Amino acid sequence: MALLSVDELTVTFTQRGRRDVKAVSGVSFDVDQGQVVGLVGESGCGKSVTSLALMGLLPSRGVRTGGRADFDGTDLLTLSPKGMRDLRGSQLAMIFQDPLSSLNPVVPIGVQVTEILARHRGMKGEAARREAASLLDRVGIPDPTRRLKEYPHQLSGGMRQRALIAMAVACAPRLLIADEPTTALDVTIQAQILELLRELVDEEGTALLMITHDLGVVAGLCDQVNVLYAGKVVESAERRELFDAPTHPYANGLLGSIPRLDAPRGEPLRPVRGSINDTIAWEDGCAFAPRCDHYTLECLKGTPALEEPRKPGHQVRCVNPVLSDGAAGLRESALPGPDEVPGTEADGEGGPAVDEPVEKTEPAEKDAAVGTAGTAEKEAGA
Ligand SMILES: Nc1ncnc2c1ncn2[C@@H]1O[C@H](COP(=O)(O)OP(=O)(O)OP(=O)(O)O)[C@@H](O)[C@H]1O
Ligand code: SF4
Ligand SMILES: [Mg+2]
Repeated sequence: MALLSVDELTVTFTQRGRRDVKAVSGVSFDVDQGQVVGLVGESGCGKSVTSLALMGLLPSRGVRTGGRADFDGTDLLTLSPKGMRDLRGSQLAMIFQDPLSSLNPVVPIGVQVTEILARHRGMKGEAARREAASLLDRVGIPDPTRRLKEYPHQLSGGMRQRALIAMAVACAPRLLIADEPTTALDVTIQAQILELLRELVDEEGTALLMITHDLGVVAGLCDQVNVLYAGKVVESAERRELFDAPTHPYANGLLGSIPRLDAPRGEPLRPVRGSINDTIAWEDGCAFAPRCDHYTLECLKGTPALEEPRKPGHQVRCVNPVLSDGAAGLRESALPGPDEVPGTEADGEGGPAVDEPVEKTEPAEKDAAVGTAGTAEKEAGA
């Protein structure tokens, strides 16, 4: 059984006099011990809200949650605040995107780390200070004893993020949720942080839920990838399978939109047209329809189910999936792969890059069927 099993998680924000916001519309995925699972998708698709729901950190008012999130047999969504506090730190930990706003600016780093050690491991005094220094050392912060006395603003961005990771790993959590932990960092520090996370997974068997919109991070770190669109998983596959055969038109477009160093000079970029605002409610059909080059009227007959059109375990929520090989025009090998991210497996496979564009279908009823599609096409100059 998976360590974390999320089943049809929904999160709706409600505010009197305003329309409800369905931030997460039925997300399901599993994370096993020692596995890195990616949650990928563009801004606003519900990645952070999903993680906050799992950590019990959503506001207590104006939010409705549904579904289940079983962590080792306990449903995190119905756990009491005290039960959740006991799990956080000792079994569950989270690294937030912005280390400065996650650390207390007026408390030295050392006090913040030793507080965690005192609360979850009962360590005090010199023993806690020694352990805190050893944790900072482990995450690669030089001169840890001196750094323990410093305040967050005295550390560089990379060091602050490392300090946060030190705090997250202080109690050897069984599940670590990392919400865009490297977005604000330069690529060198990014690679070091990813290496650190990989070590944690390999050495401690930690389960890691990696939230990112960076496909390079996914290529370097994740075992399994879930692509989110408008609050739902639209494609879920093992990393290599997803990069070799992105089958949902959104995932296919996402991979195809990445600029490649080996592309001929002057080759135009191929963005996914429109924006996350061009969606329809899942109840009315596929939310991606207004931006999709593959849709037909069939796409508007309710929410498409997750199916396995290619092979078992590769799930796709689409009635007209992209089944032509290499349609995204991108292979995993075109991204900073495992061999370029230190500490990750370098197996050297992954076929040649393919230049073939996405195969288009042109259903006659297209504009009539989905209201905003015509507008989006005009904006994109189609
Ligand atoms: N407190 C809130 N009240 C109302 N809506 C919210 C609230 N928090 C988030 N949302 C909405 O929920 C949706 C999902 O937000 P979320 O922060 O999970 O996106 P994300 O995928 O993490 O994006 P990003 O990549 O920009 O971090 C968005 O439409 C957002 O506006
Ligand atoms: S083909 Fe249809 S179901 Fe598939 S992504 Fe496009 S609009 Fe959605
Ligand atoms: Mg976010």
